[in-house]
Amino acid sequence: MSTAAIIPAAGLGLRLGGETPKAFREVGGDSLLVHAVRGLKAASAADLVCLVVAVPPGSEESVVKELGPYVEGVELLVVAGGAERSDSVAAALAVVPVEGIDCVLVHDAARAFVPVDAIERVVAAVRAGAAAVVPALPVTDTIKQIGPGGEVVGTPDRSTLVAVQTPQGFDPEVLRRAHAAGVVGATDDAMLCERLGVTVVTVEGSTDAFKVTRPQDLLLAEALLAERRA
Ligand code: CTP
Ligand code: MG
Repeated sequence: MSTAAIIPAAGLGLRLGGETPKAFREVGGDSLLVHAVRGLKAASAADLVCLVVAVPPGSEESVVKELGPYVEGVELLVVAGGAERSDSVAAALAVVPVEGIDCVLVHDAARAFVPVDAIERVVAAVRAGAAAVVPALPVTDTIKQIGPGGEVVGTPDRSTLVAVQTPQGFDPEVLRRAHAAGVVGATDDAMLCERLGVTVVTVEGSTDAFKVTRPQDLLLAEALLAERRA
């Protein structure tokens, strides 16, 4: 039973700022992309056999070289990403082998520090028969729904809300159908599956799987890494 992983890493990181695309920004001497790849590789129960990375067009060759040392025994494919995250995932999914893969993980390069146990919970749920799996945590803020003028129109019951992370795990055939159907503005792959009527199940996520989005997230990443290395 083998897993293919897709890493969308083609974003510019506009909220983070700086000259370098976010996936190539370094924390503790390695890029976020390298950290993300190491994490997936360390999840031995996932049995990773193929890794497809979507990168900013033009950086394919340098990424193949950069990741080489971290993907021993894994087929590495690097493709040009697209304008939106879902375009990048679709470009990567197009080259995932059809034969011999029973689970496809989609994992943001920006969630570079997800721990092994969270990855393995996702894979286990797919292997147990779930077609689509997301790691989730309770939300800690009160969430408001707002109208066009920014006015609050409602407060959803927080006990029914979760924040979802990656890696998200899928039955390969379901993920292909979900992307073929497409939805404009889908911010994750589970959403595409929901639109097909597929049940998406949740497993416990991890606070370490936070997404590096804004400059202060780099400080948190540095601190987390220092603690892990201590
Ligand atoms: N991503 C991608 N292709 C895009 C946009 C995003 O592969 N066209 C990837 C990012 O590289 C990241 C993940 O999707 O690993 C989550 O996206 P996000 O955190 O929004 O990253 P960016 O789009 O790079 O950041 P920003 O939205 O601040 O520009
Ligand atoms: Mg983005």
